[in-house]
Parts: sequence; structure tokens; C-alpha cells
Amino acid sequence: MRATEVPLASILPLTAAVNETGHLALGGCDAVALAREFSTPLYVFDEETLRHQCRQFQSEFRSRYPDTAVAYAAKAYLGRALAAVLVQEGMSLDVVSGGELAIAGSVNFPPARIHFHGNNKPEEELRQALDYGVGRIVIDNFHELRLLDWLAWARGLRQKVLLRLSPGIDPHTHAHTTTGILDSKFGIPMPTGQAEAALRQALETPGLELVGLHVHMGSPIFELEPYRQAAKVVLAFAAAMQRQYGFQLQEFSPGGGFAVQYVEGQAPPAIAEYAEAIVSALSEGCREHGLPLPKLIIEPGRAIVARAAVALYTIGSAKEVPGVRRFVSVDGGMADNIRPALYSSQYSALVANKLLDSRRELVTIAGKYCESGDILLRDAELPPLEPGDILAMPAAGAYALAMASNYNASLRPAIVLVKDGQAKLMRRRETYDDLMRCDVWPLE
Ligand SMILES: Cc1ncc(COP(=O)(O)O)c(C=O)c1O
Repeated sequence: MRATEVPLASILPLTAAVNETGHLALGGCDAVALAREFSTPLYVFDEETLRHQCRQFQSEFRSRYPDTAVAYAAKAYLGRALAAVLVQEGMSLDVVSGGELAIAGSVNFPPARIHFHGNNKPEEELRQALDYGVGRIVIDNFHELRLLDWLAWARGLRQKVLLRLSPGIDPHTHAHTTTGILDSKFGIPMPTGQAEAALRQALETPGLELVGLHVHMGSPIFELEPYRQAAKVVLAFAAAMQRQYGFQLQEFSPGGGFAVQYVEGQAPPAIAEYAEAIVSALSEGCREHGLPLPKLIIEPGRAIVARAAVALYTIGSAKEVPGVRRFVSVDGGMADNIRPALYSSQYSALVANKLLDSRRELVTIAGKYCESGDILLRDAELPPLEPGDILAMPAAGAYALAMASNYNASLRPAIVLVKDGQAKLMRRRETYDDLMRCDVWPLE
């Protein structure tokens, strides 16, 4: 390794480098200095990587299929600074709750570019979406179909909607993140005939304008075939519904689920490969069935933010179990990133203050929380770790902070945005006052 070559370069943000002190630099900022200034756990988002990922999705899809909207799936992580970047980049947004919609609204996210998802949208949140004037609501079930029709009709509106279908496709991902199979809580099943019934109903309702069909199969999807299958199945259905009921497919979404690299040796398809697979299946399917080309909506969440962020932790205690393993603990864990405990997700790590140290020892990185399952990394090969070292975990931008909790009454971490050597606070670390803000005492 040359002194200037950063390890894990394909997993770290684009601006990652080894600086003159041998430390990890992100967006031109020394990661060790950031850890000192903002304390740890700290999540560092690299603005250049964020913008690059938005532009890559837009250019790879639009160069093949100009009528494509790229809707960032906010569930992966949303904050106001990120939402503002998305507005600037011309992205659309997929939200699944009143809370995500409120964050989007606080930066005046253009309502027409917002799509509202969810398998149980409460009436209150549907009203909130109608108040804000969201562009599309993606209907997930019959209850919502009736409820939204009534709410829109009562306002004298025809709300543009897509139907989320459950196509019966297995994307071969973790059971907890598979959604396209028949036995899923999401979407209206196609193989059972319920999708046809819902479509017929949606066409007849005065408060809804059915403009398209949506499927999302799971996440992360390392294969291209599920996307091709999804386009094939949905287009055949759309053609049959056109013959039967005169339905016009104006919009089609194969959802999100685009995989990213977390560990060395993993090789997810390039964005261009996903684009090629989806666009060619869509174009061929439309030609085969004589359908006009619909607008394409893709919903990447993980693939926009995962690589943009690095989690920084400080090394604390160690425990040696002779002949078994060496545990080294950090000052974060499952409260800021539950993915390893929840899905056995794998991550990589490096030591931000020891990038040039070539010694290696086998360690298991444990979190600080009171669960045996709070292990961030098993069997990592890292330079010998000492208290005070800064552990950097790349690809931490997606579904970590978004699922963060206050378990053990811990404080959710600070988040900074780095660019050109400057770090701006996106979210301050919580305080004990924050912890008790909603806790009522004394009782009245
Ligand atoms: C409907 C829908 N779209 C998009 C996504 C985003 O998936 P990912 O972050 O893997 O791209 C999800 C994730 O659950 C989803 O449910």
C-alpha cells in the first residue's frame, strides 16, 4: 500500500484520504479531529458523495430513459440539511410517515415531487398529505383505497395515486427486508386476484385518479433478475387491465432496494447495470404488449446515503477470552446502529488514527449496550487497538441513524456534514434534557 492510498476506498466516501498525519480525512477534515471536536459516536456525512450518488442515479437512468424520476427513500435517513440537498439536486422524495413529510415540508420540498408510501397510513397522515398537496399517494390496501377516496372526494379533489402491488417475486435478501413475496404485509397481492379487484375499484372511485403501478421487492437486492421480473409481471398485468377496463399505465415504479458495498469482496451491480436491466425490461415489455412508455419512478434510499457517511467511535475497554476471542468495546453500538443485531448486517472498519499501521490482530468490536447481541463487527482484522483510538465504520449512512434509539437512556449522536475542509453540524448530540423532554414528572 502506498502511503497515500486509503484502505477500503470503494466503501468509504469519495473524498476519503490519508492525510499528512496518517489519519483518515473525510471531505478534507481530519476524522480524529472531528471526533475530538464533536465527540463520539459521531456520524460524518460527505456532501460530495451524497450529491454524486443523486447525480449518478439521475444520469444513468435518464440517459437510457429520459422520463425517469429519482425519488430518494427518506426511510434510509432524513434530516433537514439532507432534504435541502435533495431539493437542490432535483430529486423526488418517497416518505412513509407524517414525520418524514413534516421534515420535507420544513425545507419547502416541492409537494409535486413527494410520494407518500406506507402499509397503514393513518387518516391523520393522509389528511396531512392532502393538505401539503403531495404529488402521489401509493395505495397499499383496500382500507386505504376507500379512506383516501372519501377524504379526497370530500375536498373536491382527485388525488393522483399508484397501487402498490405484491408481485410474488423473491429478491433473495434477508427475510426481514423481503417485501415482494406473497407472504408480506406490503402491497396488494397479484397472484390472488386482489390486485385486479383493487384496480377496478380505484378506477371507479371519484376521489382517486389511478396513474400507475408500483412494486418494491426488498432490500438490498444484489441481483438484476428480480427487477426484470417485476417489469415483466407488472406490464403483463397492465396490458390485461387495459384490455379489460381501459386502464392506462402512465407511471411505473420498481421501487428501490439497490445494493451497496459494506465489506471487501462484495460486488453489488453498478447503478448503470440496474438502470440497463430495468429500462430494457420496461421498454421490451411495453413493445411486446403495445403499451405507451410510462414515466419511470425509482426509489433508491440506501444507495444514495449509505456510502456518504462514516460512523466514528472511540475505543474503550477490552476483554480477552483465551482461546475464544478478544472483545474490544466502543462507545456506541445498537442504539445508533441496530442493523448488525437486527439483520446480522456486516460492516468494515478501520482505525482513523492508525491508517499507516500495518500490524493486524483479530478482534470483535462490541457495542456498549446491555444486550449480548450488541456486536458491531465480528472477527475484524485491525491494528492493535488501545483506549482512545478512533474506529471508523464506513457505509453507515443508511438505516442506522434512521433506526437509532435511546436504549439504555443513551444520547443519540451528533451528525456533521463535511465539505472542502469544513464541518457543519447537521444534528447536535442529544442531552439529558432531551431524554426527559417528553417524560412527565411530577404527575398531575
Ligand atoms: C416502497 C419502498 N421504496 C424504496 C425503498 C428503499 O429501499 P432501499 O433503501 O433499499 O433503496 C423501500 C425500503 O424499504 C421501500 O419500502
